[in-house]
Amino acid sequence: MRTAIIEGDGIGKEVIPEAVAILDYFNETYDWGIEKVPVEVGFGKWERTGSAITDDDISLLKSCDAILFGAITTVSDPSYKSVLLRIRKELDLYANIRPLLPIPGIYKLLKIKDRKESDVDIVIVRENTEGLYSGIEELGDEKSTTTRVITKIASERIASFASNLAAERKNYLTVVHKSNVLKSDKLFLETCKETAESKGVNVSNKLVDIFAYDLIMNPEKYDVVVTTNLFGDILSDLGAALLGSIGLAPSANIGDSQAFFEPVHGSAPDIAGKGIANPIAAILSLKMMFEWMGKTREACLVNRAVAAAVHDKIITPDLGGKYSTKEVGDFILSKVRQLDAASFCLENPEDFSKLKL
Ligand code: IPM
Ligand code: MG
Repeated sequence: MRTAIIEGDGIGKEVIPEAVAILDYFNETYDWGIEKVPVEVGFGKWERTGSAITDDDISLLKSCDAILFGAITTVSDPSYKSVLLRIRKELDLYANIRPLLPIPGIYKLLKIKDRKESDVDIVIVRENTEGLYSGIEELGDEKSTTTRVITKIASERIASFASNLAAERKNYLTVVHKSNVLKSDKLFLETCKETAESKGVNVSNKLVDIFAYDLIMNPEKYDVVVTTNLFGDILSDLGAALLGSIGLAPSANIGDSQAFFEPVHGSAPDIAGKGIANPIAAILSLKMMFEWMGKTREACLVNRAVAAAVHDKIITPDLGGKYSTKEVGDFILSKVRQLDAASFCLENPEDFSKLKL
């Protein structure tokens, strides 16, 4: 198994080493035989070489099974093409999975009193290859257009992924769309409904605007949510508010044979280099990689170790703590070792690792 490691730009360089230290621990202890392949892409490379990602980088990434990714700075210079979007497209990583599951104890820590952690356990499944990210655009002085592409085949594929995930959970899927205005969403909605029904999954649907309101006001009403590309982008950042901080939100981009794991936060140039970025989203992204690999016990150990960091208040300044990225990472790694040695998570690891990818 080959795993590409992309630290990228900004805080990506600080948080990914903390996740890699945990990967190294399991890889060495249990002889997993994972070969790490460092890949350098991103804004820094663009500034130096004029190219943020080359065809060779793409070939290298295609030769890997999994990719662990930090963050890349995206700028609006017309000659700069988003690395992230190119990787998603070229590797056909069509399902962007963004779980909203608060770390136990985080609401108490952040003094969030008006909601309960147990009310929030949602997975946003975002279509990752088309919609308003089609790349079909015309830039003009008086008029600019972006074509929103929805195809039956991509809608079926994402609905099928979301329905399978729903079937493993509460067998309940919500399709989020704007079909009262956008004709393209009629196709998305109808296809999602048909696909879910054909798999025996209970399906309902919600217009995106009122869903945004409901997600925050009544999160307990939702379980698996499937939506189009841009809506998923926006709703997953909004939903991260239910986690207490965007610095705690992990994600996975999944294709038929490969997957790419990344924290939802960006490269955060304002705090880059200060050693204070929260490594938890990157570490939870590694945990999603373990789930994808079928390593549920290890995923469970990581989950419990992260919860211990929150419980013991070994946290970075974004959560009100005084610890550095490295101190938090070291604590979580030492907790993983300790829990592993004490044989935690041997029974029912799924209880702590609910996402079956
Ligand atoms: C995300 C990001 C990306 C997106 C950007 C950086 C291209 O916002 O992963 O959510 O829009 O998908
Ligand atoms: Mg985004």
